[in-house]
Amino acid sequence: MSWNTLDDMELAGKRVLTRVDINVPVEGSVVSDTTRIDRIVPTVTDILARGGKPMLIAHFGRPKGKVVLDMSLRVVLPALEEALGRKVTLIETLEGAENLTDEARAADVLLLENIRFHPGEEANDPAFAQRLAGLGDIYCNDAFSAAHRAHASTEGLAHHMPACAGRLMQAELEALEAALGTPKRPVVAVVGGAKVSTKLDLLGNLVDQVNHLVIGGGMANTFLAAQGLNVGKSLCEHDMTDTAREIMTKAGAAGCEIILPGDVVVAAEFKAGADHKVLPAHACPEDKMILDAGPATVARIEAVLDKANTLIWNGPLGAFEIDPFDDATNAAAAHAARLSREGKLTSVAGGGDTVAALNQAGAADDFTYISTAGGAFLEWMEGKPLPGVAALSANA
Ligand code: 3PG
Repeated sequence: MSWNTLDDMELAGKRVLTRVDINVPVEGSVVSDTTRIDRIVPTVTDILARGGKPMLIAHFGRPKGKVVLDMSLRVVLPALEEALGRKVTLIETLEGAENLTDEARAADVLLLENIRFHPGEEANDPAFAQRLAGLGDIYCNDAFSAAHRAHASTEGLAHHMPACAGRLMQAELEALEAALGTPKRPVVAVVGGAKVSTKLDLLGNLVDQVNHLVIGGGMANTFLAAQGLNVGKSLCEHDMTDTAREIMTKAGAAGCEIILPGDVVVAAEFKAGADHKVLPAHACPEDKMILDAGPATVARIEAVLDKANTLIWNGPLGAFEIDPFDDATNAAAAHAARLSREGKLTSVAGGGDTVAALNQAGAADDFTYISTAGGAFLEWMEGKPLPGVAALSANA
C-alpha cells in the first residue's frame, strides 16, 4: 500500500482539513495523558510552516450523533494550545466553519467541535463528507488510532478531495510495516491480556506471521488448561480450550513456536502484596491462582529476544497493575528496551494496556516505536485492513 504524505502536497495558502485523534483521558476537567496531543504537533507545525491553514477535526468520546456538552472538545483546548505553543480557536458548528468570522479566519489553528456530534460522521454519510470537504482544500489524515473506523472524517473525506497522511500516521504505518509487513526475522510477538476470546483473530493471524509467539497474562492460563494442566482458581476461559488447541495446532503447522509460562507466580488472592510463591506451571494448587509468569519463563523470553531482530508487543505478561505481579512484565520489557537501545532489536508496541505497562516498566522510551492506537493497533495485528488507511491508499 502507498499513500501521499505531506511532502507530496502543495500547502501554501491551502485550508488543510486535518483529522487528528485527541480522544485523550480526562480527569475532572484536565487532560491526564497528553501523549496523543503531543504526537500531532509535528503535523500541525509542518502544515503551518509551509503556509497551510490547519482546521483540526476530531472526536471525543461516543456522543452518538448528538450534542453532548460533557463531550465537548473545549476540555482539550488548554493542553492543545500548550503543546502547539499557539492559540487554537474552537469552531462550534459546521455553519460557523462555513462562515468563519474575520477573527477565526486570522487564527493559526482552528479546531472543529466534536465531529461525532453529527450523525453523518459515524454513518459515513457521503453527503456529510461532501459538506465537510467544502471546508477545506486538502485532507490530511493523522488519526491512525481512529483508522479502524470507517467514518466520514476518517474514511469518507478521502473520496472527496486530495488526501495525504500526516506525520503521525506516516510514522505509525512505517513502524507497523517494519514489524509485520516486511520485518527482519526472527520476529517475536508478545501477547498478553485477560482473555483468549478477545484476541482470537489476533492470535490466529500472528501464528502465520511470527517465528515465536509468547502468550502471557490471563489468556496463558487458558492455553495451560488446554494442555491438561490444572490452573486452580486462575482466570481461565475453560470453554475456549478447544480454540486454544486449534491455535497451537495452527502454530505448529506454520512453524511458529508458542511460548507459554513454564513457571508461574501463584497467590491465594488478587491483592497487592499478597503472599505468593513461584511454582512449575503444572503445580498450581487447587486453591491458588496464577498471577504472573515466573523467573524461568522470563529468562526464556529474554533468550528468545536475544536472538530476535523484531518484536511486536501487546498486553502485559501478568497482573501488572498490582505489585509484585508486575515483575515478569517489567523484566521482559526492560530487556527488550535494552536490546532496542543497543540497536539489536526493532521493537513496536501498542494497544490497550500495553503502553501503561511499558511506561510502568520504565521501558517505553527505549522501544523503537510505541503506537498511540488501541483498537486500531489490535485490528492491524489481526491482519484486518484499516478503512482510514485503505482510503488514503485509494486516493494516492
Ligand atoms: C481510541 O480511543 O481508540 C480512538 O479514538 C477510537 O475511539 P472509538 O473506539 O470511540 O472509535
